Amino acid sequence: MTGSTRGVTSDERGVLARYASFLPVTPATPRLSLQEGDTPLIAVPRLAAWVGVSELFVKFEGMNPTGSFKDRGMVVAVAKAVERGARTIMCASTGNTAASAGITAVVLLPRGKVAGAKVSQALAYGARAIALDTGFDAALDVARGLTARYMVELVNSVNPHRIAGQATAAYEICDILGDAPDVLALPVGNGGNISAYWAGFRRYREAGYTTSLPVILGGQAAGAAPLVLGHPVESPDTIASAIRIGRPASWETAVAAATESHGEFRAVTDAQILEAYREVARREGIFCEPSSAAGVAALRDSVAAGRTSADATCVCVCTGHGLKDAQFAPGLDDQAAPLPATVEAVAAALGLAERS
Ligand code: F0G
Repeated sequence: MTGSTRGVTSDERGVLARYASFLPVTPATPRLSLQEGDTPLIAVPRLAAWVGVSELFVKFEGMNPTGSFKDRGMVVAVAKAVERGARTIMCASTGNTAASAGITAVVLLPRGKVAGAKVSQALAYGARAIALDTGFDAALDVARGLTARYMVELVNSVNPHRIAGQATAAYEICDILGDAPDVLALPVGNGGNISAYWAGFRRYREAGYTTSLPVILGGQAAGAAPLVLGHPVESPDTIASAIRIGRPASWETAVAAATESHGEFRAVTDAQILEAYREVARREGIFCEPSSAAGVAALRDSVAAGRTSADATCVCVCTGHGLKDAQFAPGLDDQAAPLPATVEAVAAALGLAERS
């Protein structure tokens, strides 16, 4: 132990080393690492003003090695699969889990519904990517069916090692803040990450590292909001492709996280998500993927509705990097017409004052 007030067990980077005592590691577990985790918790006062709270932080999970929070859970799930002698692993994915997979990996992707950069990532790492003519939910059904019958390990977030690994993000937040925040807001798709955070915050309090638990606020895209509606959505539809999920696999644990923490799920429209996405970048210089901003949008909506107090210390998790899904970012074509390539033309367009 480096200190009795934190759960960090090593100065080494990577979640298996840093939080070993909170993870299912044995001497036989390979200490895999791409130095994931230990992502920045950034104070964001200008975004706080827009959201309507006095104290706000962004936990920027886009800074993980493959650009999303999935690395935390995947490193544990893959290490445990290797420990058990698995040769092949499989997941269904809206993109980020696939990009984070590692060893002989088969990824089942909803055809035409995954951001292109995520497919490129998975292929670059050498994964076998199979496009299925369906959405994420049915792709996950196929992955579950295959891994039940064949010699392939399922590494979707229904794998408990994934949840244990992803809980390390909650430990890091508490280690930095010195206690749990009042409110934690995050995007919710399959329901694994919200379950992981809630498990992490509870575990840390039981261990005596914190004194309180946060209210957990889950942001869902309005067109893919089964947890807000209370029933599955047959054809989920949103620009937030990472969370375009109609039948969350971790339904019960996600609902438990929201209700036990006295939080809730909030539906936010695509327009609200894109607005939050742009404000996060413009106000704070944090470029996250659109889906990642659903927690920010949900928090702002909750404050406006009087559900979250302006005095609360809040953390928004921005789950993935903006470069993974940049199709909704402003493009050069949106700017003014091209100018002649001269100093004078550009200076005139910018209204620059000449040096005296
Ligand atoms: N944010 C991003 C960027 C994601 O990629 C995901 C899930 C979520 C939020 C939601 O997390 O599913 O645990 O509730 N992406 C999965 C994938 C489904 O396959 O990459 P969740």
